[in-house]
Amino acid sequence: MIGRLNHVAIVVPDLDAAVRTYRDGLGAAVSPPEDLPEHGVTVVFVTLPNSKVELVAPLGETSPVASFLDRNPAGGMHHICFEVADLGAARDRLVAEGMRVLGSGEPKLGAHGLPVLFLHPKDLHGTLVELEEVAR
Ligand code: CO
Repeated sequence: MIGRLNHVAIVVPDLDAAVRTYRDGLGAAVSPPEDLPEHGVTVVFVTLPNSKVELVAPLGETSPVASFLDRNPAGGMHHICFEVADLGAARDRLVAEGMRVLGSGEPKLGAHGLPVLFLHPKDLHGTLVELEEVAR
């Protein structure tokens, strides 16, 4: 059911420093920062030949990633995102298998403007998993 690995998201305390690491240190193509106020984050996309890394920093006082940084002050891997062709069908199948969808259970528009859902990390061996509906 799941398709390509769309991205790995890493929450960082200092976005400029992380950009320098990926762009200058690792030699990757890095997008300009994009503020997503409705998500409480600023993101940068690192484009790799086969996938992406999303560098995420908190934006505003009530950022959903602030508590993650409290627990991981140096930053860390936050979630992985798999592509699915039909998010509603994927959700229904996973819920039927006993997995928990975070929030309302209804898809929201994610950082790429496409519908996403998040699955409870305890149901996925300790990793927060995002599903993104991508038409291929
Ligand atoms: Co993501």
